Amino acid sequence: MSAPQELEGRSIVLGLTGGIACYKAAELTRELVRAGARVQVVMTEAATQFIGVVTMHALSNRPVYTSAWDARPDNSMAHIELSRAADAVLVAPASADFIAQLAQGRGGDLLSLLCLARPIERCPLFLAPAMNREMWAHPATQRNLAQAVADGARVFGPGSGDQACGEVGDGRMLEALELRDELVAAFQPRHLAGRSLLVTAGPTFEAIDPVRGITNLSSGKMGFAIARAAADAGASVTLVAGPVHLPTPRAVRRIDVTSAREMFDAVMAEAPRHQLFVATAAVADWRPAAPNGHKIKKDGKQAVPSFQLVENPDILATVAHLPAGQRPWCVGFAAETEDLARHARAKLERKGVALIVGNLGPATFGRDDNQLLLVDAAGERALPAADKLTLARELVREIAQRMPK
Ligand code: CTP
Repeated sequence: MSAPQELEGRSIVLGLTGGIACYKAAELTRELVRAGARVQVVMTEAATQFIGVVTMHALSNRPVYTSAWDARPDNSMAHIELSRAADAVLVAPASADFIAQLAQGRGGDLLSLLCLARPIERCPLFLAPAMNREMWAHPATQRNLAQAVADGARVFGPGSGDQACGEVGDGRMLEALELRDELVAAFQPRHLAGRSLLVTAGPTFEAIDPVRGITNLSSGKMGFAIARAAADAGASVTLVAGPVHLPTPRAVRRIDVTSAREMFDAVMAEAPRHQLFVATAAVADWRPAAPNGHKIKKDGKQAVPSFQLVENPDILATVAHLPAGQRPWCVGFAAETEDLARHARAKLERKGVALIVGNLGPATFGRDDNQLLLVDAAGERALPAADKLTLARELVREIAQRMPK
C-alpha cells in the first residue's frame, strides 16, 4: 500500500522570498505535490534571484506569480484571487525582511499583499524562516516574528547547523520533508490536545553474548506511526523505542533502549507523568539468564551451547497495575497468528487494560500496511486494511473518544 496522500484536496500557496534556502523550495514543491496538494507558487523579486521561475513552474505544474500587477486573474487582483483559493499560505523561505513586512502589515509586493488579504480565520499563514544566525538572533527579527505570531502566523523551525555563509547556528530552514510533515500536522484534528502519551515501539534485543542475541521481526513502524499521529493530534509524546532504524517523528521525544529490562526501566520512570500509555512494542518474552561476557567460540571442543532463559517483566501489565494517580490509561497490542478476537479479549482481561488492538503478526511485521481489531469491554471494531499512518490516525481518534475526559 502506497503512502497516504495526506494533502489531497488542499490548495497551498507556497511563497518564496529572497534567500539561499530557495533551493530547498524546489524539493518542497515536489513533496507537497506528491502528497496530493495543489501548489500555487508565488515568488518575490528577490526569490527569483535565487531560483528560476521556470523550475518552480515545472515542479508545481502551474505558472508562478511574481507580480501584484499580473493581469491573469479575471479581476486583475491576484492577491485576492490567490488568497481566496488557498487553504493555507506557507512562506518558505521566509526572510528577515519579509517577516518585518508582515509585522508592519505592509503590502509592497504580491506575496505580502496576499498574506494581508487572506481570510485570517480560514487560511492559516505558516512561516519557515531562513537566515544567517546573527540575523535570526537580532532583536528586531525576534520582535517582528513575535508580532507576526501575535497576528496569527505560525512558525515552522528554524533548524540549526551549517549555514550557507559558512557560519554554524540557528536559522537554517527546515528540510523539505520536515516542512511537509509540519503542514500535514497543521491540518489534523486536535483530538489529543493537551494530553500526554507514552508509547513503546519496535522489538527488544536480549543479549546472548556481546555479538549475538534474541530478537524478533517487529519493525517499529506501527508504534512510530502512532507516536506521529498522536503528536499531530496535539499530544505531547514520549516514544520508547527498541533497536529500529526509523527517523523520529516530528515533535516527539524519543528514548532509545535495547533490552526488555531497559524498556521496562524507561517506561516505569516515565509512566506516572503520562495520561495515556500505548504498548506496541514486541517485547521479548524471555532473555538468556546469564549472557556470556565474551563471544562464545565454536572451538571444536565445546558442545553446541545451551542457554537458560528467564522471563522478562510484562511492561504493559505492570503499568496497568500502578496505583491510581500514577496510572495512565492503557492500550495494549496483541500480535497473534490466529484466532485474533479470542486471544485479544483474553489479553484485555489478563493485562487489565482498557483497550486491546489486535493484529496478525506475520501479516504486518515490517510492512507498511496493517489491519486492526479493536477489542474492549463494549465490543469489537475492525479497522480495515490501510497504511499504518492512516490506521494510527484512526486509532488515535478511537482512543480519544474512549479516554476519560
Ligand atoms: N508486552 C509488554 N511487556 C512484555 C510483553 C508484552 O509490555 N514483556 C505488551 C506488548 O507491547 C503488547 C501486549 O503486551 O502491547 C501484548 O503483547 P504480546 O506479545 O501480543 O503478548 P504476550 O503478553 O507476550 O503474550 P503471548 O506471547 O502469550 O501472546
